[in-house]
This record gives sequence, structure tokens and C-alpha cells, in this order.
Amino acid sequence: MAEFITVILAAGKGTRMKSKLPKVLHKAGGKPMLQHVIDAAKGAGAKRSIAVVGFQAEMVREAISADTEIVVQAEQLGTGHAVLQTAEALKDETGTVMVLCGDTPLLTTGMLRSFYEAHCSNGAKATVLTAVMPDATGYGRIIRSADGMLEKIVEHKDATEAERRICEVNSGIYCFDKETLFSALAEVECHNAQGEYYLPDVLDIIRSQREQIAAYAVDDYESILGVNSRVQLAQAEKILRVRKNNELMEQGVTLMDPATTYIDAEVVVGSDTVIYPGTWLEGRTVIGSGCEIGPNCRFTDVKVGDNAVVSFTYAHECEMEEGVTVGPYVHIRPNTVLKNNVHVGNFVEVKNSNIGDGTKLPHLSYIGDCDMGSKVNMGCGTITVNYDGMMKHRTVVGDNAFIGCNANLVAPVTVGDGAYVGAGSTITKEVPAGCLAVARAHQKNIRGWADKRNNG
Ligand code: UD1
Ligand code: CA
Repeated sequence: MAEFITVILAAGKGTRMKSKLPKVLHKAGGKPMLQHVIDAAKGAGAKRSIAVVGFQAEMVREAISADTEIVVQAEQLGTGHAVLQTAEALKDETGTVMVLCGDTPLLTTGMLRSFYEAHCSNGAKATVLTAVMPDATGYGRIIRSADGMLEKIVEHKDATEAERRICEVNSGIYCFDKETLFSALAEVECHNAQGEYYLPDVLDIIRSQREQIAAYAVDDYESILGVNSRVQLAQAEKILRVRKNNELMEQGVTLMDPATTYIDAEVVVGSDTVIYPGTWLEGRTVIGSGCEIGPNCRFTDVKVGDNAVVSFTYAHECEMEEGVTVGPYVHIRPNTVLKNNVHVGNFVEVKNSNIGDGTKLPHLSYIGDCDMGSKVNMGCGTITVNYDGMMKHRTVVGDNAFIGCNANLVAPVTVGDGAYVGAGSTITKEVPAGCLAVARAHQKNIRGWADKRNNG
């Protein structure tokens, strides 16, 4: 079946959000609402996606996928006026235009595809997707004639009491024959409660031209939820979260408590991974298979290899390879790579560092700007002194080095392969491979000191 073009309306400010951010850039499931709509349309077969933007147009352009075409609606005079702005971009097109709104993040590819196919086979010049909403407040209502045929759409603000009792609503999703759409748009007027050019008015116009219009009703009202307020944003977020959790469980991931597991739409998790409660997996996080993650982990843009065990950890923009064991109470910061089988124990922070295979950072360490080899043992409380108050410097630790407890490695400094550093040392000079470095005051024992203090 042929493909279609999609026009996504996203120019509004979203006054009811009370936000500096354009409404369509508010995130649900870690992804801007508009991007959810773009992705669903693409999945359903959109060959071109055109977003109509206005309020903070540049910001919107930068936040969405680059293959989305942009048309600017300088003044937001209504949804009909918004579609009209795409006339130039669509001048050589014929066939079906699917119009969507950028504030409906729950649309699914399957629903849009079925809708498009229904439009193609019903012979109508315009088809609108509708659903019966438990609470229709705010939506345009579907007015049907006595024989059940679609007559027109009335906006909530323009509706009579009787019309407001109708629960079948306009989803804001339509398929149009392109030529018919633009000729009808030219006739839309703005004599209504909001003084706007309403897109739904084209249906009545097309019908009065004796062309066929159709309504395509879906049962799944949840998927067409329009987000106009923060309360509706939270509702959308919750639905997306349940969907994502169910999808992962169906793929073989165990979630100990889905109700306290927050996984963004784009996150990937391998099979037989177990996720414990209180875990957030955000952004572009990718988790391997056979892992145990949580309880209480927050990962943002983190890549984790297979069979990793991580608990009580905040990690962002970093990578943990296969078989790592991390936590509890660990902070892994950007540009860190923990190679295979690294162990990071309690109360450790690692930043901008490469930690080699099998190395252990078991307790109470700060490791920043460090290149550490494999099978290193960092004693308890050992830190890299990476900042001199002006600049950051790197520390290099060779393979198999053994750093005693409470050592300070003052960067820039190098500890060679297989070298030892005595506990409590402050290392400021290179430690060559295989050496023992001890850099601390010698111990002095003063005989009789205690007696003298107590009796003298
Ligand atoms: C709109 C529909 C309503 C439908 C509901 C579904 C109209 C007049 N009303 O109402 O029938 O039930 O969606 O969610 O179409 N926009 C522009 N330019 C404008 C105005 C709006 O691009 O000049 C964009 C907005 O950014 C938004 C979308 O169009 O993404 C819908 O606008 P919104 O103000 O949210 O319309 P609703 O009142 O929800
Ligand atoms: Ca809306």
C-alpha cells in the first residue's frame, strides 16, 4: 500500500503548561512528545514528516530528528491556519496527508497504520479518528446526524450543554485527500469562541461540497490522549511507563516491581536481566543480558555489558563492560569506562577515567581523570588528586599495581606496572614499574609518654 505524508502541528505555546519550554518539547518517557509522534508516524509508513512550528521554533527544530521537515507558522492563528502553512511544501504532492498533533505522545504505529488503511479503503476525502473518552472535557466533540453519519466537530468552548454531554471526541488525527484539504482550508473562518481558524471545520466544508467524510472510531482512547496540562503529562508518562515495562517483560526481562521501575522509551535491556525496585533507566541506556540492576539505580545514557551486577548506583554517560560488580553507593560520572570484570565497591566515585580489566576499587575512593591498567588493586580510601585549583591533571596506573590504603596520587603522576605504593603515601613523583614507593613520615614511638601525661 502506498505511503502518506504527515503534517504534525506543533506551533502552539501550550499556555496551559505554564512553561518556558514549548509544550511539544516536554518529555514523556524521556523523549519529547513531538518526537513520539514523529516516530509513530514514521513507523506507520510516513514518507515525509513536516512539523509546523512557531513558538521557540529554533529550539523545537534542534530537539527533533533531523529528517523532519520544518515549516514555520509565525503567528498561531489556529490548527487550520497551521496546516495552511504547509501549502508550499506540499505543492507537488498528491494523495493522502495525515495530520497529527505534536501533543499526543501515546499514538502507536499500529493504530496509525490501521487508520491509514481504513481511510484508503473507505473512499472518503477526509477521515477523522475518534474515540469515546471517559472525560471528554477540552476535546472537540463528534456530532453525528440522526443516521449516525459524521456531521461536524464542535470545540468544547463552542459547544452547547447538550453537545458537551457527547463523549465521542476528535483525536486531532485525520487523513485527507491533499487537494480537497487545501481547497477546504481556504474557506475556513474564525467566528468562534477562540477567534481561531479551526482545522476540524474543514470536515463540515468538505461535507457541504457533497464529498464523503468519515469517522474512524477506536476503542483504545488512551492512545489518543492529548496533553494540554502537567496533569495530563503525568497521565501520559504513567501509560508510557507501563507500556515500556510490559514490552521488556515480554522480551524476557524480569522486573521485580514494575510500579517502582521507570524506564525511558528508547532504553534497551537484554533478556534474563533482573531489575530490582527503585530503578530509573533513562535516555539512551543499553543494558546487556543476564544482569542484576538495582535496587535503587539511576542510569542516564549508560551502556552496560552482559552479566553485570549493579546496586544503589547513580551512573551517567559512561560504560560498564561485561561482568562488572558495582555498588552499593557508587557514583560513576561521564566519560568513564569500567572494563570487563571491574569491581567498584561502596562509596566510590569515578569520573572521566578508564579502568582496566579486573581492577578493584573496593571502598571509599575518588578516581578522576585516571587511566588505570588491568588487575590493579586500589586500597580503601585511596584517591587521585586531579585538581590543583586551576587545572585537571591525569593519573596513570599500570597493570597489576597495588596501591595501599589512604594513598594520594597527586596528578600528573604515573605509577608503573606491578609497582606498590605503601599505605598512607602521598605520591607526587613517578613510581617506576616494580618499585615500592613509601612517601610518609617515619613512625616515632616515645617511651613513657602516656604515664608522663597522666601523672605529671
Ligand atoms: C485540538 C482540536 C480538538 C481535538 C484535540 C485533540 C482544534 C481546533 N481542536 O484541540 O478538536 O479534540 O486537539 O487533542 O483543532 N497548533 C499549532 N498552531 C496553532 C494552534 C495549535 O500548530 O495555531 C498545534 C499545537 O501546538 C498542538 C496542536 O496544534 O500541538 C493542537 O492544538 P491545541 O491548542 O492543543 O488544541 P486542543 O485545544 O487540544
Ligand atoms: Ca491539545
